[in-house]
Amino acid sequence: MIDLLIGKPSTDLLPAALFAKAAQKALERSDAPSLILQYGPELGNANFLDRLARFLSLEYHSTVESQHLCVSTGASFALQHMLTLLTRPESTTRFAFFQNPTYHLVYNIFLDCGFKKDQFIPVSENDTGLDVDALAEFLEKHFPQGKDESNNDDGFYSAVMYCVPTHANPTSSILSAAKRARLVQLARRYNMLIICDDVYDILTFDGNVPKRLVAYDLETEGPPVVVSNGSFSKILAPGARVGWMEAQTALIQRLGTW
Ligand SMILES: Cc1ncc(COP(=O)(O)O)c(C=O)c1O
Repeated sequence: MIDLLIGKPSTDLLPAALFAKAAQKALERSDAPSLILQYGPELGNANFLDRLARFLSLEYHSTVESQHLCVSTGASFALQHMLTLLTRPESTTRFAFFQNPTYHLVYNIFLDCGFKKDQFIPVSENDTGLDVDALAEFLEKHFPQGKDESNNDDGFYSAVMYCVPTHANPTSSILSAAKRARLVQLARRYNMLIICDDVYDILTFDGNVPKRLVAYDLETEGPPVVVSNGSFSKILAPGARVGWMEAQTALIQRLGTW
């Protein structure tokens, strides 16, 4: 039966037999206790990260390196994890920007992490995605000197943005390449963390997946400002609770502390 209230896939799409076979094969290995059931590396199993990097490179048609990856338990929990580690809503992190409209379940995650509703700033969309001009105007008005240097030693960001640049939920908009480049420049200028929800990227059916925002951050000099938040929920099975984060190595090392 189709559940119309929650975005669940039809159960006949969920590969139970494949999971059973894979789990059995993995658990029958002689090193299974240490490899699978023991505490593992903070960023995730190195073999898994290498294979993930190869998979993502194939899907994105551009190189993804395992040194930029960290395993997660899905995009929702990774969002909470990033907000907890990288923002301080009661002091350093003044604003939370959202693409408007956006995936409604993220608001409670921000509230749970200490943000107040009056810190939420909607950024509207047009046919090329987020209105980056409006965002720039707001940032200029509230951070007239750019990066607040006095506030910059604690490792927390002055603002945070949640966005879905590719196949946005719910509008399905795609952020243009020019706006992606500009957004990263703005984030650098204002010490803004961009948590980029990329869970739908690989569901691009026609043509290439647009270059993910984190690639603009990785290929230009400067402090890390973007994390790509990926998940197997939309491409394998939501119950797998497996995802990944991709960012500059310095930032990914901070995120892998669990
Ligand atoms: C935009 C977006 N992000 C994240 C999620 C949830 O991802 P996960 O299951 O990996 O927590 C959804 C699920 O509908 C979604 O639409």
